[in-house]
Amino acid sequence: MTPFFFISFVTFLLLLLFSFISNASPTALVAPIQLDAATSLYTMKLVPPSPSGNSPIMLDLDNSNLWRDCADPVLYSSPSFRPLLCNETAACAAAQTCSSNICGSAGCYGTCNEAGLTYPTCSNYTCASWASITAIRWSMGTAVWRDTIALPSTDGRQVLSKVTIPDFAFLCTDDTLLKGGEGRLPPGVVGGTGLSRNPIALPSQISSKIPTISRKFGYCLPSSTTRPGVIFFGDGPYVFKPDIDVSTRLRYTPIISFSKEADSYFLDVKSISVAGVPLGIDSSLLTIKRNKTSRSYVAGTRFSSSVPYTQLTPSIYNSLVSEFKKAAIAQKIKEVAPISPFDLCFDASTTNFSRVGYNVPQIDIALKGNGKSKTEKWQIYGANSVTKVNRDVFCLAFQPTDEYESRSIIIGTYQQQEAFFQFDLAANRLGFVPSLPLIGTGCSDFSFT
Ligand SMILES: *[C@@H]1O[C@H](CO)[C@@H](O)[C@H](O)[C@H]1NC(C)=O
Ligand SMILES: *[C@@H]1O[C@H](CO)[C@@H](O)[C@H](O)[C@H]1NC(C)=O
Ligand SMILES: *[C@@H]1O[C@H](CO)[C@@H](O)[C@H](O)[C@H]1NC(C)=O
Ligand SMILES: *[C@@H]1O[C@H](CO)[C@@H](O)[C@H](O)[C@H]1NC(C)=O
Repeated sequence: MTPFFFISFVTFLLLLLFSFISNASPTALVAPIQLDAATSLYTMKLVPPSPSGNSPIMLDLDNSNLWRDCADPVLYSSPSFRPLLCNETAACAAAQTCSSNICGSAGCYGTCNEAGLTYPTCSNYTCASWASITAIRWSMGTAVWRDTIALPSTDGRQVLSKVTIPDFAFLCTDDTLLKGGEGRLPPGVVGGTGLSRNPIALPSQISSKIPTISRKFGYCLPSSTTRPGVIFFGDGPYVFKPDIDVSTRLRYTPIISFSKEADSYFLDVKSISVAGVPLGIDSSLLTIKRNKTSRSYVAGTRFSSSVPYTQLTPSIYNSLVSEFKKAAIAQKIKEVAPISPFDLCFDASTTNFSRVGYNVPQIDIALKGNGKSKTEKWQIYGANSVTKVNRDVFCLAFQPTDEYESRSIIIGTYQQQEAFFQFDLAANRLGFVPSLPLIGTGCSDFSFT
């Protein structure tokens, strides 16, 4: 054997070994995220042979379960489709840990025929849990099944080979949920996915089945309705064109635990300011607490994937509107008559536009940082604070909460667009990069091809 041949043979073996290792132990999986223009809701896609096939499913942070409509238009079937039985007690308990305000109590089915329940929303001796769509506040109790799901792996720069995960627990519904949302959901959706911290939710189920993938996920919601954004399951790097790894730029704030609604993510907002001026916020509105009279838990901040514009309790909202108006007028931006559903609008010809949107007063949300007094600022520029309603007018893109909302602040998706968020479930913290355009990239700049 000549030395050259020997060396290239060894190199070949090493390459083979390396590609085997990288395929066998992926560190991250990846999927595209799409914004639907009509509903302002986001969807994501798994790849075949997942139960959702090539179809989109709702992206839902406040939810635990992956589900699909298994009855309509055709009965779902696959060779590896099987029920999660009641006697698989640990897996069944994990599938039942839904604790949002839209879940009921979970249980187990006995025999379906006798109870008049229909397949596959019921199956004999099968574990039952709750499927829901947060955006329309609908849910239904139904049977838990198992089948293979698949997602492409990634090294954070490009899409690598497909990874299949057998025996993934998911829920089968009939058409009740999707019918309930008819006209209010993105076209073509066949189900939804849960991204909560619960063990059955996509991030935790993936990392428990593939130990090389850590229990965290990062997403970047696009502002474009034509170019997809991206969700990563696992660790960075998360690289966007032209070669910007956003995982090196994350700032962190704790994810607050609130066991009554363990399916949702809560943050600790310390203050909000406009052009450097802090809003006069009653600090009791910023922490979740029990109201003894109404016996409910009120106040605090929820991070949402289904509310488009950030909602603020009326006192905070009014304070933001008045401070933003004052600062905009000081900047010679001309106020015009409001256009519904917004309350504060401006003449677009009276300010300039840059890569971070209209040049309007900057809004800063100060989030709890590391250490007692430290905060991390989330800067919100024009691209995320105001929205263009017609050729001549843009409006402040925030809304007041309605009377049914218990939280003081619901962070909406418009404010999250073109920013990057990493939900580190093991460390209970949210990493964020406020504006990708400011660092020369965007959510649609991950290379899927
Ligand atoms: C659960 O019950 C099924 C059918 O009754 C049985 O085949 C299976 O072995 C049981 N599994 C366990 C873990 O007990
Ligand atoms: C479910 O159990 C009932 C009652 O024992 C039985 O009649 C029925 O055939 C079972 N269904 C299936 C699909 O095994
Ligand atoms: C508690 O709830 C009651 C009834 O809804 C309400 O009137 C009261 O203002 C609340 N108190 C606080 C401190 O939020
Ligand atoms: C827009 O920017 C240009 C150039 O920087 C400047 O001359 C002009 O005054 C600005 N217009 C407004 C309305 O701010």
